[in-house]
Amino acid sequence: MTNVTEDLSWIFTEGSSYADEEGWHAAATRLRQENPIVKVEREGWPTVWVIMKHADVMAVERRHDIFLNTQRVIFQSDAAYDASPPSKSIIQMDGTEHKQFRGLTTEYFTPGTLRRNLQSHLDELSTYYVDQMVSRGGACDFVAEVAKYYPLRVILTMLGVPEEDHPTVLRLTQEFIATEDLEFAATTPDDFSYAAALERMQAFLGSLIVARRAEPTDDIASVIANSSIDDELIGDVDAVSYYVLLASAGHDTASSVMGGGLEALLANPAALRELQDDPGLIKNAVEEMLRWATPAKGFTRLATEDFELRDTLIRAGDQVLLSYPSANRDEEVFTDPFTFDIHRANANRHIAFGFGKHFCLGAELARMELRTFFTELLSRLEHIELAGPAERVHSTIVSGVKHLPVRYTWRG
Ligand code: HEM
Repeated sequence: MTNVTEDLSWIFTEGSSYADEEGWHAAATRLRQENPIVKVEREGWPTVWVIMKHADVMAVERRHDIFLNTQRVIFQSDAAYDASPPSKSIIQMDGTEHKQFRGLTTEYFTPGTLRRNLQSHLDELSTYYVDQMVSRGGACDFVAEVAKYYPLRVILTMLGVPEEDHPTVLRLTQEFIATEDLEFAATTPDDFSYAAALERMQAFLGSLIVARRAEPTDDIASVIANSSIDDELIGDVDAVSYYVLLASAGHDTASSVMGGGLEALLANPAALRELQDDPGLIKNAVEEMLRWATPAKGFTRLATEDFELRDTLIRAGDQVLLSYPSANRDEEVFTDPFTFDIHRANANRHIAFGFGKHFCLGAELARMELRTFFTELLSRLEHIELAGPAERVHSTIVSGVKHLPVRYTWRG
């Protein structure tokens, strides 16, 4: 089926739609059943085929030779795209170039390196942030006061951003990822706020290039600023784009899963108790949290050849949008996809981190952060419950829980 479904295009082009998770998923479920490769056309936006099914998203990602990242990998309006400053990060590269640039930092994100260099730091930070909850008395806004800060601190420390600058990076990331969210947008949300916020982020992090070339340290910013590609020192736009990607991809996503994961446990107190009794279950529970929350809402690809997917002919020159949240509720892969099940046998088949060549560079880091934090939190909690309604971010790029009021008591 290849009909144009204009009436449902709002779920992909308006940030407020992702903030209404139930409404979004009701529409997405209909699309998966009736029109799983749906053409979305909206004035001022690129026309895209949205890929709703798990197998189809993987099929597209597998054919990275045909479906390229180089153009417009972020699904945004034409005006926002046209106004954006030059940017070229690894998520906007293909082929050899992508391999070379990604290869500059992969060693920092392998399970072995992370375990050696980071596990004790994650243990300390998890204790620190649970202590922060304790110090707030019996209640806090878990996402706004705790979850926002822990993954932020981890990735910015690895990158080499001084601690006093972490709040600025947090604010700038929120401004350019959640331009439609009045709580975070720097100005009134319009098509240009994304571009302006990205420019401010580039200017802010750009100062690190000069500093690390003058005096290299052992952080990732130094590795990038002083690396060469084909015997030429990396260019400033390439270096700053790398910084911006690491500094922005590495925390809002993970904190959204912390918030969405805890929210799901609060709605399933028996599962929460089970995890407290048997911390060995936390690993699988984290995979289910990733499936459940799926904070990255999708990236686009450009088809360079005609490609037949199901009964749809995607033509050379067409763009596709990979819908990770829809794929992770695909009833053909996940039985009862709307049940949060910490024992789900195939929870780790989720594609919250994407798949293939562009598979999330920080996936293992995010998993370790989540496992370490929930192990600490659950071992100390006596009781926890929701203390008010959860609220979600208005964004078409990364969205998840932004406010989660909770009240709690601790074990003696
Ligand atoms: C729960 C947390 C996270 C989620 C859900 C997430 C999700 C994603 C997704 C969906 C992609 C695109 C994959 C694709 O196109 O197939 C991606 C790419 C990427 N992520 Fe993450 N991410 C998370 C955490 C992190 C962290 C902690 C870092 C820190 C280094 C990071 C860095 C990156 C980078 C650099 C890319 C681009 C990789 C490439 O194009 O080769 N992410 N992530």
